[in-house]
Amino acid sequence: MTEGAARFLAATQLQPSDATPVWFMRQAGRSLPEYRALRERYGFLELATTPDLSVEVTCMPVELLGVDAAVVFADIMLPLQGMGVDFEIRESVGPLIADPIRSARQIDELRVGTAEEATPYLFAAIRGARERLGRSAALVGFGAAPFTLACYLVEGRGSRDFPHVRALIHSDPGLWNRLLAKLSEVLARYLAAQSAAGADVVQLFDSWAGVLDRDTFAAHVAPHLQALIQRLRPMLPVVYFSTGSGHLLETVAATGPDGVSVDWRLPLGQAWELAGPGRFIQGNLDPAAVLAPWPALETSARAVLAQAAHRPGHIFNLGHGVLPDSDPDQLRRLVELVHGWGPSRL
Ligand code: CP3
Repeated sequence: MTEGAARFLAATQLQPSDATPVWFMRQAGRSLPEYRALRERYGFLELATTPDLSVEVTCMPVELLGVDAAVVFADIMLPLQGMGVDFEIRESVGPLIADPIRSARQIDELRVGTAEEATPYLFAAIRGARERLGRSAALVGFGAAPFTLACYLVEGRGSRDFPHVRALIHSDPGLWNRLLAKLSEVLARYLAAQSAAGADVVQLFDSWAGVLDRDTFAAHVAPHLQALIQRLRPMLPVVYFSTGSGHLLETVAATGPDGVSVDWRLPLGQAWELAGPGRFIQGNLDPAAVLAPWPALETSARAVLAQAAHRPGHIFNLGHGVLPDSDPDQLRRLVELVHGWGPSRL
């Protein structure tokens, strides 16, 4: 049988393979009892910033669920540790920024240093995970896309529609662009260093991009995204992920990612049309479908696979992260179902 890494990388190159590769966003988290046991002893940031523990959690889902890719156990907020931004990640709430960034002075004070100095533990964890995984699974590195990192910095916390962020773009586009340029530089260094440490692909999480209209996204976000993606692409394939953003997909595709990860709102076949040929597509089962009894989950998963229609260049995933209440047995059965669906072909 083809090993996970080969199957996954074939899909990123739009090459056929024996089966559709599969992994899940947030696969290493509270849905796994083995993770929860570790969390009783360590805080989340302690797990993410201690290389041995991070490697352990990164590899857990490959060993427990049989997925074809591991995602480095980290968080999109970690690069802020090198920028002099005080933040915490609070359980069931998410990131909280002590002093939301809204003024020119605060933006000018953000530090842009080397990634190795800012988050050395992350690159140690990537080297460790790469070695432990061998060819059993690909290793997905990741960071926020510049817009989504700016969302947390400016709003100060998660939000339904990020009003302070949208107000800043419209009221002071010059300042907004300075912020995004700075974040893009930090992210380029952070992601390039993940590539150097052994990540096979990187995924840009632009979770909240869908709050913007298309023209605002095209004018004030896409140029930064494009510059970042073009800097990374010579090193490794780049996947772009966001939610609720079908209206942005053509604009996103024009920024040049190798692959796009889409949520469940858009049928996969339509995503292919909007993203254009030459791009792999990742997705897009509704994470809530995993909470349904197996027959219903199976029906939903087969519907996603039918939309993919055995095209090479489909990576099966959920449309967003695994919900904490998900049963790992359901995830295991889902992996078996995807692998049993049959080969992709040209
Ligand atoms: O398997 C994986 O995907 C693990 C790696 C991972 C984490 N965060 C670990 C984590 C990834 C890829 C992320 C990305 C991330 N972090 C995003 C983008 C993806 C998305 O969901 O849209 C965002 C928005 C964040 C910010 C963040 N960090 C949130 C919203 C939360 C959840 C807070 C909560 O308790 O509900 C976190 C914390 C976090 N990051 C957890 C994990 C496993 C939970 C921490 C815990 O164990 O308490």
